[in-house]
Amino acid sequence: MQSILEQLETRREEARLGGGQRRIDVQHSKGKLTARERLEVLLDPDSFEEFDMFVAHRCTDFGMEKQKYPGDGVVTGWGTINGRMVYVFSQDFTVLGGSLSATHAQKIVKVADMAMKNGAPLIGLNDSGGARIQEGVDALGGYADVFQKNIEASGVVPQISVIMGPCAGGAVYSPAITDFIFMVRDSSYMFVTGPDVVKTVTNEVVTAEELGGAKTHTSKSSVADGAYDNDLEALIEVRRLVDFLPLNNREKPPVRPFFDAHDRVEESLDTLVPDNPNTPYDMHELIRKTADEGDFFEIQADFAKNILTGFIRLEGQTVGVVANQPLVLAGCLDIDSSRKAARFVRFCDAFEIPILTFVDVPGFLPGTSQEYGGVIKHGAKLLFAYGEATVPKVTVITRKAYGGAYDVMASKHLRGDFNYAWPSAQIAVMGAAGAVEIIHRADLGDAEKIAAHTADYEANFASPFKAAERGFIDEVIMPRNTRKRVARAFASLRGKQLSNPWKKHDNIPL
Ligand code: HXC
Repeated sequence: MQSILEQLETRREEARLGGGQRRIDVQHSKGKLTARERLEVLLDPDSFEEFDMFVAHRCTDFGMEKQKYPGDGVVTGWGTINGRMVYVFSQDFTVLGGSLSATHAQKIVKVADMAMKNGAPLIGLNDSGGARIQEGVDALGGYADVFQKNIEASGVVPQISVIMGPCAGGAVYSPAITDFIFMVRDSSYMFVTGPDVVKTVTNEVVTAEELGGAKTHTSKSSVADGAYDNDLEALIEVRRLVDFLPLNNREKPPVRPFFDAHDRVEESLDTLVPDNPNTPYDMHELIRKTADEGDFFEIQADFAKNILTGFIRLEGQTVGVVANQPLVLAGCLDIDSSRKAARFVRFCDAFEIPILTFVDVPGFLPGTSQEYGGVIKHGAKLLFAYGEATVPKVTVITRKAYGGAYDVMASKHLRGDFNYAWPSAQIAVMGAAGAVEIIHRADLGDAEKIAAHTADYEANFASPFKAAERGFIDEVIMPRNTRKRVARAFASLRGKQLSNPWKKHDNIPL
């Protein structure tokens, strides 16, 4: 008996070494943690339970029968994050570059199935050279099996991908299907094909960093939702994100203890909006002053900065925030900001996370580049996402709510539950100057008349009261009381029940 126990320990030791000490040292020399070290950071101490530690590949081509590593390049199992269950897989770059074989794929599929059955998030730590070249179509099939599981799990359990090394081919398409992607600066890359192939096919010379580094994907392509300086920081931030999320689509988001009065008054908000309607201000300030303890987990902070998205808590409960940012492009809606916010709104709705919208929007960005790029279709995504969302929706208009953008930004007409406005709100088809130019074109040469028309228009629309008279605004609130009013609104909506007509699924303008 003793010797069998020892044998188990020996086999475990061997599996824990992955591709061997030399390759572990190489991994460390690049500033990267190993697959197992990463799980130690991600999960609560001693909570990890491993599956399939001894699984080995079955490939016999290219001498592969002599290159077997127990676990086959991916560590899988489950553990807890602050006591809440998550399923995980962590690819081991020290084993054949973390490449995906048929059996490696089966291990991922197994935890994905378990995550769905048991209703817990799936977190993938990706560090993989893609399909295992020696396995050919078996590896391609394996990837497709993983994709299929990611697709089935979408909207059932939160799926989070962390890119922690050079990820190519299939190694980027699985993350692309998941809800959130985070990258590590200077050590992680995502591309369909690497710089060498790019050079061969298009003659373009580009570095891995330019082609698929963290900066590229967080600020240009918007493939990734955030980037961190090292493995440690990335994993700790994922723990922070998981704390905001429900475990699955049948559960409410977690409620945390909070140490912030729900009726905290923020007098400084009374002067947040400048007197001059064209002077910008930072919408982050309103978000932080509304949130419990000022805590805001921002998603896609470096992309389409004219709109802010992320999670806060109100009275300990998770709330998704969407807010126009007047500091960038005056907070207008354009292709990128519409896509960014639409995806966020849909995530919140899929996982029963209430949505708070702060509005200061001068309209959609005009121009040929927007029209040629399809702003009509992309803007419609946000309109569609808000309109189909059945979660509690609370909206506060701080200043401008002009034109179609007024409708889009969680207006009453799109089933907004509470639509508040600050006294500084201006709800109109457009700003006074533009409006007067159009409807009083005949008087354009007469400065006095134009001034009178402008004053008249402003008296009518440069306030929230016209909309309040119609009931499109439920209440005009004092800026200083925003946290209290919004928190009470969400509290009153905890029992909200609303559903859409039966359909197989909708047809959002993709
Ligand atoms: C088998 C692989 C591998 C792969 C890397 N290795 N990628 N083995 N299949 N796909 C092995 C290497 O042979 C090496 O083994 C070890 O992993 C480390 O690789 P290095 O090249 O030494 O590391 P590095 O210089 O850091 O470069 C990493 C890399 C590069 C950028 C990922 O290895 C690379 O370009 N790999 C190929 C990427 C690729 O084209 N994959 C196929 C994508 S197609 P030793 O024994 O020396 O340690 C795909 C299809 C699915 O995925 C598509 C679905 C839509």
